[in-house]
Amino acid sequence: MNIDGKAWRTIWLEDGGQSVGVIDQTRLPHDLHTRSLRTWREAAAAISTMVVRGAPLIGVTGACGLMLALREDPGDQALEEAFTGLNGTRPTAVNLRWALERVRQRVQPLPPSERAAAAAAEAMAIAEEDVAMCEAIGDHGLALFQRWAAARPADRQGQPFQVLTHCNAGWLATVDWGTALAPIYKAHRAGLPLHVWVDETRPRNQGASLTAYELAREGVPHTVIVDNAGGHLMQHGQVDAVIVGSDRTTRRGDVCNKIGTYLKALAAHDNGVPLVVALPGSTIDWSLTDGLAEIPIETRDAAEVTHIQGRDAEGGIRQVLLTPEGSAGLNPAFDVTPARLVTALITERGVAPATEAGLRALYA
Ligand code: MRU
Repeated sequence: MNIDGKAWRTIWLEDGGQSVGVIDQTRLPHDLHTRSLRTWREAAAAISTMVVRGAPLIGVTGACGLMLALREDPGDQALEEAFTGLNGTRPTAVNLRWALERVRQRVQPLPPSERAAAAAAEAMAIAEEDVAMCEAIGDHGLALFQRWAAARPADRQGQPFQVLTHCNAGWLATVDWGTALAPIYKAHRAGLPLHVWVDETRPRNQGASLTAYELAREGVPHTVIVDNAGGHLMQHGQVDAVIVGSDRTTRRGDVCNKIGTYLKALAAHDNGVPLVVALPGSTIDWSLTDGLAEIPIETRDAAEVTHIQGRDAEGGIRQVLLTPEGSAGLNPAFDVTPARLVTALITERGVAPATEAGLRALYA
């Protein structure tokens, strides 16, 4: 997608795969800064400190991390060490394990001399497939938005279609296009008037920092709201649809996504507002059924709750303390929305009800 008229992706190979370039998302929206990752440990640190984040992008970064490890040492032991180290960085998004397993399966049968090149090819194949999947999600989501916009009462016709989104499930969370934001970009480009309510998404503010940044660069009308405002807007008929991404979706359609998604789903359900989840097939964990019982939820540093980051009047990026010194903070990074609260899943293969039969119909 575009930043100031230039097309960007979130991750790329440098020097023929000697290093991996990424956008440093901890400095957005104030600084557009790129970083070079040269070792698997740097890739692992980039994932855990959220220089890169978002389920699909974490997966591609993990795959690139294995490639970097194999450049240093293509032996089996080094492969396993890097696999374990990268896989342990963030436990919730299943794309990471999926991408690491895919690269490992590709390189394991090869002689060591061929492994790094094969890992690079596989990592880039995963990246390209992610772009294609996200664009297809955009097309399927666009059709849904167009249908819902046309079905609105006569007095709402001609007004912008109002979409609420939580966290950042845009191109910065993937390689390009995004999941939940792909239908929004497609709708904007297709000329469907729309407006996006952007949840700020405490504690790390992926909505206020990243989603707002993306939408502004693409010229999509949007307004940042505090996380607690969504229910009120729904009660007053100001939200036509909620769309979010997913970090892990179980076979029966339970959705694990950024903390706070569940509360949006409850409010949407209570107000008859459809809540759809946009996800590539790489986010489905077919081995799990009950998301609440089975999905591991990452707990992050309490400092992300007690402190907040922003730009000061001199232009410096600063962390400031919000709470009394010594107050404890708890920081679960994700929650699970049960399938019964999900109106539909938008995948690269089409739209399905959030049920095992619905998913199976798309992924036989
Ligand atoms: O903690 P983050 O920023 O990695 O969480 C990201 C999300 O929860 C996204 O909604 C999810 O990864 C889907 S992104 C396409």
